[in-house]
Amino acid sequence: MGPDGSSPPIIAPIIAPIIAHRGASARAPENTLAAITLAADLGAQAVELDVTVSADGIPVILHDETLDRCTDGSGPVVLKTLEELKSLDAGSWFDPGFAGQRIPTLDEALKLIRQRDMTLNLELKPTTGWEEPTVQAVVKTLERHVVSGEWLLVSSASPDSLDLFRASLPEIPLGLITTAVPLRWRTVLKRHHCISLHCHQAFLHKRLVADIHAAGYLVHPYTVNDPVRAKALFAMGVDAIFTDQPDSMLALHG
Ligand code: G3P
Ligand code: MG
Repeated sequence: MGPDGSSPPIIAPIIAPIIAHRGASARAPENTLAAITLAADLGAQAVELDVTVSADGIPVILHDETLDRCTDGSGPVVLKTLEELKSLDAGSWFDPGFAGQRIPTLDEALKLIRQRDMTLNLELKPTTGWEEPTVQAVVKTLERHVVSGEWLLVSSASPDSLDLFRASLPEIPLGLITTAVPLRWRTVLKRHHCISLHCHQAFLHKRLVADIHAAGYLVHPYTVNDPVRAKALFAMGVDAIFTDQPDSMLALHG
């Protein structure tokens, strides 16, 4: 039986085993077009990006609720229009060589990912309380692209966001993000119609991975930058890892 108790087990991977976390984020400013381009240049076939929304309802690629860490701006992203966000430098904080990188829109990121023939794990990352406008904006943008579960996996640590997303685009596969593996992982994954569990890598062991697989779900741990740990996780049978260093992990995994 599969995740819903009615379909065959979903064990066929829909995303490559090495997922460039926020792009090639060890060598380029995370969640920028430069980081996506570099991930593709390094040979990564899959990328993970975080999406949130601007004050005027445009989905943008950014991890934090505030602008302070990854741009030269400050304050909550949801209080800025796209025009204001686009005026910010999203590269210099990482390295002066990346000065002029901008916060990408989801639309820009999708175009680049499709041009480079990559698969995408899009993490819905709403500012707390902004789940509905965030998901609505993401759905609106995705509907302008020809989205397919063959190259898009949507995930979130916000179960409400997953449910809202599924109400609009039920054909796109979903993943649940947690820190620890929930004790009732079967119930939670089933309730939110997920095909995969994205948990912190430290919480996995061989038996648990086997149990999750036997129940028909994929296992995608984050964030794995240690080659020894990556080898151990693949030996346990995980389906894919999120890594800031896709080049090192590709050398390891092939
Ligand atoms: O989606 C996996 C991972 O990205 C979740 O954590 O904080 O890096 O978005 P975070
Ligand atoms: Mg993320």
